[in-house]
Amino acid sequence: MPTLAVVGLQWGDEGKGKVVDLLASHAEIIVRAQGGNNAGHSVIAEGKEYHFHLVPSGILAQQTLCFLGGGVVIDPAALLNEIDRLEKQKISLCQRLFISPHAHVILPYHRQIDQQNEEVQAIGTTGKGIGPCYGDATERLGIRICDLMSPKVFENKLREILPIKNRILEKPFEIDAIIQEYSEYAKKLKPFVKPIESHLHQEIIAGKKVLFEGAQGALLDILYGTYPYVTSSHTTSGGLALGAGVGPQAIQQTLGVVKAYTTRVGHGPFPTEFNEDEAFLDPHVAREFGTTTGRQRRIGWFDTVMVAHAIRLSGVSSLALTKIDILDTLPMIKICTGYRLDGHDLSEPPACLEDLERVEPIYEQVEGWKSDTNKIKQLEEFPKNARLFLNKIESLLGIPIDLISFGPEREKTWKRKNFF
Ligand code: GDP
Ligand code: IMO
Ligand code: MG
Repeated sequence: MPTLAVVGLQWGDEGKGKVVDLLASHAEIIVRAQGGNNAGHSVIAEGKEYHFHLVPSGILAQQTLCFLGGGVVIDPAALLNEIDRLEKQKISLCQRLFISPHAHVILPYHRQIDQQNEEVQAIGTTGKGIGPCYGDATERLGIRICDLMSPKVFENKLREILPIKNRILEKPFEIDAIIQEYSEYAKKLKPFVKPIESHLHQEIIAGKKVLFEGAQGALLDILYGTYPYVTSSHTTSGGLALGAGVGPQAIQQTLGVVKAYTTRVGHGPFPTEFNEDEAFLDPHVAREFGTTTGRQRRIGWFDTVMVAHAIRLSGVSSLALTKIDILDTLPMIKICTGYRLDGHDLSEPPACLEDLERVEPIYEQVEGWKSDTNKIKQLEEFPKNARLFLNKIESLLGIPIDLISFGPEREKTWKRKNFF
């Protein structure tokens, strides 16, 4: 089928970047449609490591056009740095990367408000100004890429909005400094700005292979995630359609990416998190440090209650399971199959955070395989206990695992089918 969304089904960092990079070799257009430079996607390709924050991970496949949809929030300095860095790594973006004029712009006061808000309510954000920028969009106080492209419009909007922001800022901003800084960014970004929504619509009608690249994960969704410990965008497949400016039917199938265990960066409930005497996985060995902030990720067992919720939210048809190699040394592995709260069994996460913080996970235990999975070529070559672990997840979630990743490199992947 020609269109596919790849979305995270946990709290982000599931390995979406690796999966997108791999599938991009068959795609023609890649679309990022939500989030901003809070995202961090690491890809290892042909011996080199790349880090993406705003530029789609599908850019490494040279035949692709890459779009940043209206649902993405753009920090111009961060995007220009990333473009420079990628060009130094010999990745050409000229006439390949396009930005929607509808996308909202992150301004310096958004970052400061993000930090000030953390002092009142510690979410553990990335501090990139993402929440305040989406907040301004909703409050109709945002400045968009189309506004940035017109010096007069930009200045007029900023003259209206900055005084409102300065009232709450601990360190107010001077308008002239922002105008000067952002007019430089505007000149540099101009060649990338294009009405991509109509283009994308035409290409989908023409049957082009389009990959919608999710950022973050369903459990960080602003509506259905572990609110308020979430990001500020819609991280589901519906959010991707919305952010790309196309109808929901434009996404024909959704591949959900999960780690073989669970991680989370920042604060908030995490029912299956390892407790102190259960430190089964070494974060250094598992390389569980954030690509964007370098923070150590919290680690826990695979949680089918949360993942089933995420599958439902995004209409996921099959799974890509990553980092199975990280479990290679464990003598036993737990899978959470349900929650118990006040003596009742729950089959879905309670909406109320106070309840979610009190749930007791119910576990099934499977024996570890204690051997290397990182040289596998065929599904049959996975150790028997690894296959039992995979089968258990498939049967608990009711959908197939169509891709298994057992190392960060492209070749350390097994897939059941081609997705395009
Ligand atoms: P994303 O935000 O979902 O794209 O994920 P990140 O890139 O933030 O984090 C995933 C990390 O795991 C990256 O460092 C990847 O290189 C790495 N990775 C991805 N798949 C695998 C895998 O199957 N095994 C191992 N060991 N590492 C992986
Ligand atoms: P990728 O695309 C993991 C988390 C932050 C924080 C919360 C809110 O790499 O999977 P924000 O700065 O968005 O307002 O922070 O969301 N967060 C992520 N965690 N991976 C991400 O992206 C994340 N993007 C945001 O750590 O808990
Ligand atoms: Mg990440």
